Amino acid sequence: MPNVDLSSIWLDIGLNDMLPLERKAAAAHEKLDELTMQDGTMTGWVNFPETLDKTDLADISATARHLRSISDAVVVIGAGGSYLGSRAVIELLYSSYYNELGIGPKLYFAGHNLSSRELDTFSSLLENVDFSVIVISKSGTTLEPALSLRFFRQLLAQRYGEDSISDRIVAITDEKKGKLGPMADELGWKRFAIPSNIGGRYSVFTAAGLLPMAVAGVGLQTLIFGARAEARKLNSIRSFENPAWQYAVARNLLYSKGKKIELMTCYEPSFKYTAEWFKQLFGESEGKQGKGIFPASAQYTTDLHSLGQYVQEGERSLFETLVRFDHSGAPVRVANDFADSDGLNYLSGKEMYTIQNVAENAVISAHNSGGVPVVLIEAGEINERSIGAMLYFFQLSCAVSGLMLGVDPFDQPGVEAYKSNMHSMLKSL
Ligand code: PA5
Repeated sequence: MPNVDLSSIWLDIGLNDMLPLERKAAAAHEKLDELTMQDGTMTGWVNFPETLDKTDLADISATARHLRSISDAVVVIGAGGSYLGSRAVIELLYSSYYNELGIGPKLYFAGHNLSSRELDTFSSLLENVDFSVIVISKSGTTLEPALSLRFFRQLLAQRYGEDSISDRIVAITDEKKGKLGPMADELGWKRFAIPSNIGGRYSVFTAAGLLPMAVAGVGLQTLIFGARAEARKLNSIRSFENPAWQYAVARNLLYSKGKKIELMTCYEPSFKYTAEWFKQLFGESEGKQGKGIFPASAQYTTDLHSLGQYVQEGERSLFETLVRFDHSGAPVRVANDFADSDGLNYLSGKEMYTIQNVAENAVISAHNSGGVPVVLIEAGEINERSIGAMLYFFQLSCAVSGLMLGVDPFDQPGVEAYKSNMHSMLKSL
């Protein structure tokens, strides 16, 4: 569903620049096909939306219903890929005010930092509130979620008694490896699997993403339907008509022209966590061997009043990727002010969305003239189907882009290095 528009990437590009890159994209996609057919590679996500079973979805939905029936709040414990996907979808659909909307249990995301203040805040928020826990960790040994799990288990035990908490904890972890699975089995917790051949940052369509989404009331069938349709489309078009190739080619081209920073922007504030998910996906997939575009994000128009100055006139090493959504929801019109004190009555009666659209175009043109190429991604309306499609689009683009760059987009040796360093230093405490 997402369409890529390269008309504002502005660089002096001729067919001679594009053709070799198109061939590179084709080779990268073929490489991805090869990897997908081999055992032992981390490409299980490629066909996952296609193969995801109805029974698995039914089990996830039933567990979500159970958690909703016994909880006024659900704590989702996980770091990086283990929580960003679900948070991105929930916030994009319902906004960052989800917890105030009263449409499901409140959701608190924990286990992605080491802050005692934050844990303390959670224990105040959960006082006299019935709550449950979803813990997501492929390895089961990541420090932040593991310590958080200890904290919330203790809180649950104090509230309900050690013997009565097993139906309040659900574990989502690697199907074969790691420490969390055996722990869940021993303690009688419901358990879902993340396939071993799907890494955290590609796991949004597994139970890791789907269970918290289902708790929040997201329509899983429609989301998966969108991802599946997108997977079929993107894996069958083998030409520059393929939007994922267009995006991957644009990124590689801009990178080769010195644009080392990609600023992901959007005019919807509820996109914030999708941008976080995007940064993790691309940063962890491409940033290795001394290479890779640095993925950053800005929220427009908010950040135009701060970062906007840098984007317009700072060091010319960045390009923007603007995700645009069609208008959905009730129209909001500018109110009339009889005194016209701010001189803006010429906008009275106009829809905010129309004004936002004009702002988008004005900003693209200003940034272009300041030397900032803008890749436009038209993502449709904000709904489950188009979000499913968009997330799959980014995953496939990321794999093709990383393979074009000549790195392995599925490992994360740098993250492992920090994790093992921290563990060994902590042992000397
Ligand atoms: O994408 C990744 O692999 C990482 O971001 C992990 O998701 C993150 O480090 C958490 O790891 P784990 O799920 O093993 O706790």
